[in-house]
Amino acid sequence: MSPRVAIVGGSGYVGGELLRLLLFHPEVEVSQVTSRKYLGRYVHQVHPNLRAISDLRFKSPDEVEACDILFLALPHGEMAREFDRWAGLATTIIDCSADFRLRDPNAYKRWYKRDHEAPEMLSRFVYGLPERHRAELAQTRYASGVGCNAVAVTLALAPLAEAGLLETATIEIKVGSSEGGSLANDASHHPERSGAVRVYSPSGHRHLAEVEQELGSLPIHLTVTAIEMVRGVHLTAHCFLRSGSRLLEEKDVWALYREAYAKEPFVRLVASRTGLYRYPEPKLLIGTNYCDIGFALEQGSEVLVVMAALDNLMKGAAGSAVQSMNVMLGWDETTGLTFPGLHPV
Ligand SMILES: NC(=O)c1ccc[n+]([C@@H]2O[C@H](COP(=O)([O-])OP(=O)(O)OC[C@H]3O[C@@H](n4cnc5c(N)ncnc54)[C@H](OP(=O)(O)O)[C@@H]3O)[C@@H](O)[C@H]2O)c1
Repeated sequence: MSPRVAIVGGSGYVGGELLRLLLFHPEVEVSQVTSRKYLGRYVHQVHPNLRAISDLRFKSPDEVEACDILFLALPHGEMAREFDRWAGLATTIIDCSADFRLRDPNAYKRWYKRDHEAPEMLSRFVYGLPERHRAELAQTRYASGVGCNAVAVTLALAPLAEAGLLETATIEIKVGSSEGGSLANDASHHPERSGAVRVYSPSGHRHLAEVEQELGSLPIHLTVTAIEMVRGVHLTAHCFLRSGSRLLEEKDVWALYREAYAKEPFVRLVASRTGLYRYPEPKLLIGTNYCDIGFALEQGSEVLVVMAALDNLMKGAAGSAVQSMNVMLGWDETTGLTFPGLHPV
């Protein structure tokens, strides 16, 4: 019998992506999915792309029964608040919220401005980004999700940071509206959101906490701007390299990034001299689990422009969560994640 999966928070955007991926995953069976608001309704009534795909109906989070793998896609704080209950339901848990991304309770308090409700459990969770924690994920039963912007920054800068080449970086990230979740608010009202170029985090974005945990304390400056896009994260980082850096030509940059990512199934290097799609572009990644990374060296300076793109609901959330599950359960890491995207789109 296939392992039974439950998705808590299945009516949300990340929950919907988990459903889409897991219903087609050959190793698991989705047996429960929750929503309070849509209790008793068929999942396709909320996720219309799943019409005729599944006859599952939403159940209450209070009625979730024991299963093998539990995915949680709840607002921040909810999982930690009831940790014991959720932990009692399954041996394998993947929590997509920010509750268990940081290992240090003090860092959690500093960035999230509140005490953690299950601080003793923080060290039990592995950060669910297989590109950085594959070996630990293979040994754990508890994985956290990832912050979508954090994934873009971490994967884009890791080769430079780890080679000790990064002096400082100024990063601009542009994001789509689905990053804010499915709950409507004043800012998501169509006349206010449509066509917006709205800086919503000029500095101090919480995802920097994850980057700091991954890459150490770096002098990087991040601004996040909401633009006219539903899915997608697009990063442009002006990386000021250490003086005398050995990255004098683009072939050196290629060598550095190839060494880091040649074996990664979901990280692609995109830096072509010709064509329309010379650098990473989020629209080509809709529904895929790829993070595309590109770069261009500014001639005559020690500035490297690094670009990255991903789908916030996929590599930035549900895709990385399913990839982590594959690693945790010993399945081929790409299982259920091979959709190549669409073109034109
Ligand atoms: N959106 C992104 O791009 C993204 C990327 C990475 C990580 N994440 C993280 O993933 C999580 C889910 O994000 P999302 O965008 O999918 O949010 P969302 O669209 O608002 O979905 C939240 C889900 O949680 C359920 N829920 C809310 N409060 C609950 C409670 N107290 N008890 C039980 N269920 C509750 C909601 O359904 P009902 O109200 O019907 O029960 C809904 O299914 C968040 O922690 C978010 O930070 C999101």
